[in-house]
Amino acid sequence: MSLDLIVKGGLLVDGTEADVAITGQTIVAVEPGITAPAAQVIDATGRLVTQPLIDCHFHMDATLSYGRPRVNASGTLLEGIRLWGELKAIQTREEIVERALRYCRMAVGQGILAIRSHVDVTDPNFRTVEALLEVRDRVKEVIDLQLVAFPQDGWFRAPGAEAAVIRSLDAGVDIVGGIPHFERTMQAGHDAVTAACRLAADRGLMVDLHCDETDDPLSRHVEVLAAETLRFGLQGRVAGSHLTSMHSMDNYYVSKLIPLIAEARVAAIANPLANIVLQGRHDSYPKRRGMTRVPELLAAGVTVAFAQDSTRDPWYPLGSGDMLEVAQMGLHVAHMTAPAAMRTCFDLVTRAPAEIMGLNFGLAPGCRASLVVLDCADPVDAIRLSPARLAVISNGRVVARTTPARTETSDI
Ligand code: FE2
Repeated sequence: MSLDLIVKGGLLVDGTEADVAITGQTIVAVEPGITAPAAQVIDATGRLVTQPLIDCHFHMDATLSYGRPRVNASGTLLEGIRLWGELKAIQTREEIVERALRYCRMAVGQGILAIRSHVDVTDPNFRTVEALLEVRDRVKEVIDLQLVAFPQDGWFRAPGAEAAVIRSLDAGVDIVGGIPHFERTMQAGHDAVTAACRLAADRGLMVDLHCDETDDPLSRHVEVLAAETLRFGLQGRVAGSHLTSMHSMDNYYVSKLIPLIAEARVAAIANPLANIVLQGRHDSYPKRRGMTRVPELLAAGVTVAFAQDSTRDPWYPLGSGDMLEVAQMGLHVAHMTAPAAMRTCFDLVTRAPAEIMGLNFGLAPGCRASLVVLDCADPVDAIRLSPARLAVISNGRVVARTTPARTETSDI
């Protein structure tokens, strides 16, 4: 057997030592002591070798736009939406593409090899959709970029939004999106969930809704989403993003809701960086954290992922494409500090989002040859230290290398 690439001596997430052998774009062996010759060898001795980091909820049409045309003074979701409306009216297609590609280069350097990005289809000029379709094509050899047809201003609230969703899907956007909590009434939100699920069922697509991104304990569109998922037979193809109202809901109601979400196999995507700054803005004290109930959803068997949502845009002023930073914030906000829970947080930015996006990533024979070598020994240190991504391999090709900074201190 002659190999194209071998990653030698690395440590897998379970602590076992193994070499990873690659032929073409496929992993062909994961075992210790592989002796077959390889065209390229990467020494990963004592370093964590993991499947790629994944960001399954992002807004690439807005990324890196912070400050244009102004900043979000209140820090709220609603001012962010207004500000985005101002930017949407003035930004060019070229500007969106340039920012997105700049972000993608940063993301690859951070070990992100798959991104699900919502794209606002309510831009009357359709620039956002055209720009991100171009970006998806330009990065496809390295990044799996899934696009969600997202009617930011509301499926029914924004005139022509439903037609824009359909036009976007016809143009090649992958997934049906929505934002039911932004509709004018609870009933309109309910109807928007139904419309999204019906459209996805008709076209054989997945659904990923911004759902209940509010502190309102009575915002309960996730209940409708789960029920409609069952009614339309969409089990395993639907994700609810944010779900922050679950943080504020009555516990008795949640004891009925979570089993419904689990039964419908609706995945939950929490966005800890964005939601720890967006939620609780109307509170004095105590201030609610606002992230959805991650440990409880996991305990019920729901597939949960942590995602980034925003990087330097109208909603979030920070961000560097670092999913380990996202995992660390999720760990804090959800109180997931027990050793097993910290390991789970790593899973929520690697394996779980791959499952949600339907990607054949993993460190096993037959999986795609996409992986990351981190400058640490285990998943908890990865979250603790956010170490350098020593090597990033996408589809059998080394696409990024980083030489870690080393600090020397004087005697103390
Ligand atoms: Fe979002």
